[in-house]
Amino acid sequence: MTAKTIVFAHHKGGTGKTTSCISVAGFLAKAGKKVLVVDLDPQGNATSGLGIDKNTVDISMFHVMNKTLNIIEPILLNTRIENVHLAPAHSDLMIAEIKDESVLRKALIGARNSYDYILIDTPPGNHNLIMNGISAADHVVLTLDPGIFALEGIGDFNDFLNKTENIDLDFMPDMIILTKAQSAFLKKADPAKEIRNELEDMFMKNIYIVPYSIDIYESQKKGLPVSHSFPKGNVGKAYKKIADDVLKL
Ligand SMILES: Nc1ncnc2c1ncn2[C@@H]1O[C@H](COP(=O)(O)OP(=O)(O)O)[C@@H](O)[C@H]1O
Ligand SMILES: [Mg+2]
Repeated sequence: MTAKTIVFAHHKGGTGKTTSCISVAGFLAKAGKKVLVVDLDPQGNATSGLGIDKNTVDISMFHVMNKTLNIIEPILLNTRIENVHLAPAHSDLMIAEIKDESVLRKALIGARNSYDYILIDTPPGNHNLIMNGISAADHVVLTLDPGIFALEGIGDFNDFLNKTENIDLDFMPDMIILTKAQSAFLKKADPAKEIRNELEDMFMKNIYIVPYSIDIYESQKKGLPVSHSFPKGNVGKAYKKIADDVLKL
């Protein structure tokens, strides 16, 4: 078994990276796949979103990223979700001294033999952590919220990535998810449809749309991804479709 590794990235916060990461993880697990979620965000939202209390975490991605540990296995936790394991994050990750962008990729080498999928959730704004996530990944999933600022943010994101001198990255996401789409957006008359068209032209890819729903808030309160709290709701169905297509990557 060699895990396919997928990173959820966008340098801005609030675009739906974490929600997408743990929801896809949940649906992949439901499809019988063994999944590891790597929480690369010091905020630890993927950690809490999978029902783990951050305050109980002793060893975490901090120790992997500052190379106290050279492998990720010692920090891995079971979650309440069958077939989903977690490499948890703690706020100290913010101050980890990270040598270069290959730290995570190297730490994952052994774990790739134990999982079908490794999904990496990245933080906003932290160049070292985002580049480590991208360097470790076979596929990049870009998440955007449909506000026009999110669209402007795509160019910014390219600039942001290209600031790394030792990586010549021709950035091309494998999947693009527009999250938190309001119902007006889903109707044809909405001006935000232009964003979708523009994105489809820019990336020549199908854009996945996830509707805005209270289900996400409710599932966060439960500490369960939507795959395991509201799988039949609008958001659940949208992420199920995305997970089905992840299986085809
Ligand atoms: N489809 C959705 N419907 C409603 N709220 C959502 C949806 N997706 C994400 N959210 C909410 O938006 C906020 C940002 O989402 P999150 O996944 O944490 O983004 P990021 O990880 O990119 O910062 C969170 O509070 C989350 O609960
Ligand atoms: Mg997040």
